[in-house]
Amino acid sequence: MTPRKIIIDTDPGQDDAVAILVALASPEEIDILGITCVAGNVPLDLTSRNARIVCELAGKRAVKIFAGCDRPLGRDLVTAEHVHGKTGLDGPDLPEPTMSLAEGHAVDFIIDTLRENAPGTVTLCPLGPLTNIATALQKAPDIADRIAKIVLMGGGYFEGGNITPTAEFNIYVDPQAADIVFKSGAPIVVMPLDVTHKALVTKARNDAFRAIGSPVGIAVAEMTDFFERFDKEKYGSDGAPLHDPCVTAYLINPDLFSGRHINVEIETQSELTMGMTVADWWGVTDRAPNATFMNDLDADGFFALLTERLARL
Ligand code: BDR
Ligand code: CA
Repeated sequence: MTPRKIIIDTDPGQDDAVAILVALASPEEIDILGITCVAGNVPLDLTSRNARIVCELAGKRAVKIFAGCDRPLGRDLVTAEHVHGKTGLDGPDLPEPTMSLAEGHAVDFIIDTLRENAPGTVTLCPLGPLTNIATALQKAPDIADRIAKIVLMGGGYFEGGNITPTAEFNIYVDPQAADIVFKSGAPIVVMPLDVTHKALVTKARNDAFRAIGSPVGIAVAEMTDFFERFDKEKYGSDGAPLHDPCVTAYLINPDLFSGRHINVEIETQSELTMGMTVADWWGVTDRAPNATFMNDLDADGFFALLTERLARL
């Protein structure tokens, strides 16, 4: 099988870090053309630092990592240090990165890569606010038709929101960007909270990460130890939801997930429900389907895959 070419667009974040590590561990299925960073969980200087820390942890210093947009299209940046800690990657004690950022802006890298590769061969994997992707689509509308697929973490329907009662963080931070992406016409697969809240790292699952015994396995366990306190307190759940790894696990084994191809629109006007993913799950409108919106996963299969892949690094 030829590996699928992807760009990971990210705001690490402990769960972003695990998603990146899983992709780095899977060269047979995934060819990472570059990692583009965006402001989200923490400001851009930290997300672009954290992405480099993660690649260095995995011993993959050759990956091209670009800094991108430092603020949402039309709103002030909202960050999530209350979840991810001051650095965004709190938990393990990891060294400052020594690899440099690639030259150029993330948005230009996205545009150039889509134009240089044959249409339908590059998949975009956004794990944070959609600012970089939307900016690329605004700057170069021709790329929409060249995108193989956008597999993203964001939104929620049955689960509601996690930053407001109706909005999930990634979409809430930049609803205008999300609106542009969902209207782009590119094929979209969405991993909303409905799925990711079922991807819970229980103690046994985190022990399995730790038992890998490698620097990667131990760092992932420590990241999860840190990250889980927030969701345990908030939801009374067994552990942290590993949101973003749902995206990279999907690329390796889509059969772990199930959902429906439906219409999804983004609320951009109402302050009350700003950033809500209005998902027509029940088909009550005649709006055309534009996204495959997942709502279930095989959690045991998902964690078995993650553990097996992380052990390769
Ligand atoms: C999303 O927001 C961030 O905090 C996580 O990294 C994930 O991408 C979950 O709502
Ligand atoms: Ca993220």
